[in-house]
This record gives sequence, C-alpha cells and structure tokens, in this order.
Amino acid sequence: MPKLLLVATGGTIAGSAADTTDTSRYRAGALSADSLLAALPEAVSLGQITAEQPFALDSKDMTPAHWLALATLLRERLAAPEIDGIVVTHGTDTLEETGFFLHLTLPRAKPVVLTAAMRPATARSADGPMNLLQALACAGTRDAAAFGPLVVAGDRIWRARDCSKRHTHAPDALGGVDAGPIGVAIGTQVRLDHVGEGAATAFAGVLPNELPRVDVLSAYAGAPADLIDASVANGAAGIVLALAGHGSVPADWLPAIGKAVTRGIPVVRASRVASGGVMPQANFDDAAHGTLACGRLTPWQARVALMLAISTGMARNALQETLLRA
Ligand code: SIN
Repeated sequence: MPKLLLVATGGTIAGSAADTTDTSRYRAGALSADSLLAALPEAVSLGQITAEQPFALDSKDMTPAHWLALATLLRERLAAPEIDGIVVTHGTDTLEETGFFLHLTLPRAKPVVLTAAMRPATARSADGPMNLLQALACAGTRDAAAFGPLVVAGDRIWRARDCSKRHTHAPDALGGVDAGPIGVAIGTQVRLDHVGEGAATAFAGVLPNELPRVDVLSAYAGAPADLIDASVANGAAGIVLALAGHGSVPADWLPAIGKAVTRGIPVVRASRVASGGVMPQANFDDAAHGTLACGRLTPWQARVALMLAISTGMARNALQETLLRA
C-alpha cells in the first residue's frame, strides 16, 4: 500500500453551493481536506492516506507567495521516507500557473499529482470525487514520478507543464493545447502511455525567499506603449509581452521596450495565440533589440520562469535556453 498525502488548497473541488443544480454560484474551498477524504471511502483501497490543508483558496487569489509556500511544503514532504506520493487539490482557474511553478521547482523522485473539479462537491454529477480518486491512484504509481508534476482530470493525465484551462464552465475544461495526455485513468486503473524523462529543470535546486514582480502585458489593436513604461515605473523586474501572432511587436512599442531593456529589465516575447509559442528571431530581431522569446511557453508560464530566473540571477543566454527547454 503506498503512503499518500493529500495537500488541499481549495478550489471548486472543495466547493459548496446551496443547491445541487448550481454550478456557477458557490463558495470555492469551502470543504476541508478531511471532508473530501471522508466522502471517498473507496480511497482506502488506493493507499494509506493522510491530509494537510495549507490554504483554502479560490485559486483566483493564489499568489507567488502561495507558490513558494506550497513548493516548500511539498519538497519537505517528498523528502520524508513515510510519503510515497502526493496529491494537490487546486482550483482550475490558476492551476496552470501553480502547476508550472511546481514543474520547474520540484524534484522528480516521487509522484506529485494535481487535481481539480469544475463542479462543486455539492453538485449533481460532481466531477471532483472521481478526479480525486484517480489522482490518488496516479500518485501511488511509482513510474508517474519521472514526468514531473502531473494533472489528472476526467480520466486523462497530463504533465502539469502541458495542461491549461480551455473552457470557462464545461466539466472537461482542463487539457493540453500543443501536447496531449501522457496517460489515462480508467476508474482507478492508471495507464501511462509514455516514459517520463526524470530530469528535473534548471530551477529544481532553488527556491528563493520571494519572487520579483513580473508583469504580463497584452498587445491589442491600439494598445498604448505607456503600459510598458507604467510597468517599469511600478517596479517590474521583468516583462512578458503577450503579442499578436508569432510574437509580432507593435512598431510604437519599440522605444518603450528599448528603454526597459537598457535598464536591464528582461523583456520576453510571447503570444496571445493559444498554441505554437514564439521562437527566437522569428518575426523580430531579438538579438538587435535585446529581447528574449518564450519558446513554447504561454505568457503565464514564461512569467513564472522569468520570476525564478530573475530571483536566481540567471544570465541572459542561460535564460533564453531555459525558456526553450522548460
Ligand atoms: C478556483 O479556481 O478556485 C475556482 C474555480 C474552479 O476550481 O474551477
């Protein structure tokens, strides 16, 4: 029997509504970790399970300080011999940001599995209970560790790095855009279709005390360049630009970008397009303008990587390489 830890952080999976048909007006994070487990008597067949509740948040309120606290807790628990795998319950809204932070910062010796739900625990056909059972089954599967943190929802298993929210209310809201699932769960039977690489990322040995401000600024028709100036004036240590197409930079943003780069503020080109990312030198002379490209990361993933890179003093060349490999 694997020894599993449930780390509950809130979300709709722990949500409670006044009415069983209400799936849009409820309180996220209302139910405790212990009550989630108490509702799953089947879980005893999957492992010896203990629970902790570091926060009970609606994930819109998750901050970089929460990422650091969660990663610190998970690292400590993963180092303990009495734990074989960990499940983290989280709101779907910002799961992709927390998941990517954990992807970058956790070791890969034991499985870490995030799960969530779109319907509150009180709803008819709530998706949380089966998602949690499947996540526990996955966390008890030793081979799952080498992929880095995973997300389990709706019978599918993705690397947390590849999984984002793709629908605002439907139950199958989580999924990959450029990458598919690495396995499936059928009931509580877990099947991994690939072999994980096992190697942790450049940030796995590092956990800073705090993370710097990095802003994501979106381009849109007529978006003013003073957004960039305002970000710099308000103390941003790095900027990610969610640009149109393959990272196309509006011409009148060039002076503001130049000023930021001259001040030593890394500026990363990303795209507001859902898939494909932005490659160095594509559509723009990054070398001439001192900018970086996000590779296949979303703007929000590039922000997480940039926050860690700045806080660890990573040099520009290493940062570009890290963005491409993350
Ligand atoms: C949240 O992200 O905490 C609320 C929404 C959800 O979990 O689906």
